[in-house]
Amino acid sequence: LPGAEVLVLSNREPYIHNRTDDGVVVQRPASGLVSALEPIMRACGGTWIAHGSGSADRDTVDAHDRIRVPEGSPAYALRRVWISEAEQDGYYYGFANEGLWPLCHIVFVRPSFRTDDWQMYQRINQRFADAVVAEARTEDPVVLVQDYHFALAPKMIRQRLPKATIISFWHIPWPNAETFSICPWRREIIEGMLGSTILGFHTQFHCNNFVECVDRFVESRIDREVQAVSLGGHETKIRAYPISIEWPPGALAGVPARDACRAEVMAKFDLAENTKVIVGVERFDYTKGIPDRMHAIDALLTRDPSWRERLVFIQVAAPTRSKLGAYSQLQSEAEDLASEINGRHAGGQSPIRLVARHYESSDVFKLFRAADVCVVSSLHDGMNLVAKEFVSCRDDNAGVLVLSSFTGAAREMSEALIVNPYDTEELAAAIKRAMTMPLDEQAERMKLMRQQVKENNVYRWAGTMLVDAARSRTRERIVA
Ligand code: G6P
Repeated sequence: LPGAEVLVLSNREPYIHNRTDDGVVVQRPASGLVSALEPIMRACGGTWIAHGSGSADRDTVDAHDRIRVPEGSPAYALRRVWISEAEQDGYYYGFANEGLWPLCHIVFVRPSFRTDDWQMYQRINQRFADAVVAEARTEDPVVLVQDYHFALAPKMIRQRLPKATIISFWHIPWPNAETFSICPWRREIIEGMLGSTILGFHTQFHCNNFVECVDRFVESRIDREVQAVSLGGHETKIRAYPISIEWPPGALAGVPARDACRAEVMAKFDLAENTKVIVGVERFDYTKGIPDRMHAIDALLTRDPSWRERLVFIQVAAPTRSKLGAYSQLQSEAEDLASEINGRHAGGQSPIRLVARHYESSDVFKLFRAADVCVVSSLHDGMNLVAKEFVSCRDDNAGVLVLSSFTGAAREMSEALIVNPYDTEELAAAIKRAMTMPLDEQAERMKLMRQQVKENNVYRWAGTMLVDAARSRTRERIVA
């Protein structure tokens, strides 16, 4: 896209400035979206528009609410948009996270749809769309709209910048039409998204679900041959772009080799030498299946007590959206469950270590290098980048990935042990198989997965979208 201006719109910002006792510190959020887009923005430059959520965010911006990031080697501008607590309650906690999040993940947490939240969601979408328009210096920028926080923004941006190339990416699953139909504002949401030039999902399955929803809820023309929808004279292409990670991840550079990582983790958790180390790393979210994997460990130890002294399951779970009941409940339930299981299998070292805090990437990567097994048991996940990060760390071609079949990643990483996380017995059996897998089989599987992720890295994800965008810009220029 030579010469085109690139603007990203997302709720979560890539750098959060917080005031602490040691002064202002910069934090990187635990967000799959941010970790995927950040390397792209570092490479492309441009402006990233996001919610200024840190306690020191206002003190670090200029008069236009902008700051150049990353600190030390600035590559692009971060434009912060401010949201009051009441607005945050309605737009972010309410509509986005109590409505759209459970709706799209189909995880049996009943979605809540409140009119007040919806109004706030509309208002905040307008505020961010206005910020995009204000930041644009050209009449035809490339705008990358990210995720379920901004379903309405594409249409709002299109109204003011009709020539913009708007590429929207939905980072979470899209449910089938029957499920989606319970949302009272299903038509407005779909029409908002159809303001995009290109609308991306992780998998073809989610694209198909979306097109079915368009068919049922919106008066439009669908061209199934080229997967495009026309509404009011404007065409949107619906495409699958499986998201990925930077290869190799930048934060891996400072991480020591496997033996050193292993020694550090064994010492930190005070583990006996030959212990099999099973790890899980995510936000403390009910879509991730955290209690489910603890149940599997419990079942495994109950069936075969000889494992009691020989395994440990380390779960790092970063507290997230704790203001919402479903999240705080999950955290306390998981904590109770961990102590209950540890109590049941007492005597030696505790089998479950639940670390309820945020780990920086380099610490996560150390854990991945030290592990024998990584478990990703999401009940439903658009892609899941943890699975990809785990294999990116394993340049020793060892370690086994146990992966839920309900992740986008399972479609690309079929050499993992693919499981149904709702089936405790199956999950337990897979973990056991992983712990006892011969090294040559581990290596065979790991090499194939590493090759897959290396080839289909995040630059390819962004590159494919941008090439599609460039093609559509050229076509519009020629036809006009
Ligand atoms: C998922 C969403 C992202 C979000 C991230 C972290 O990956 O798709 O949009 O940023 O979770 O959640 P949070 O609510 O803390 O931004």
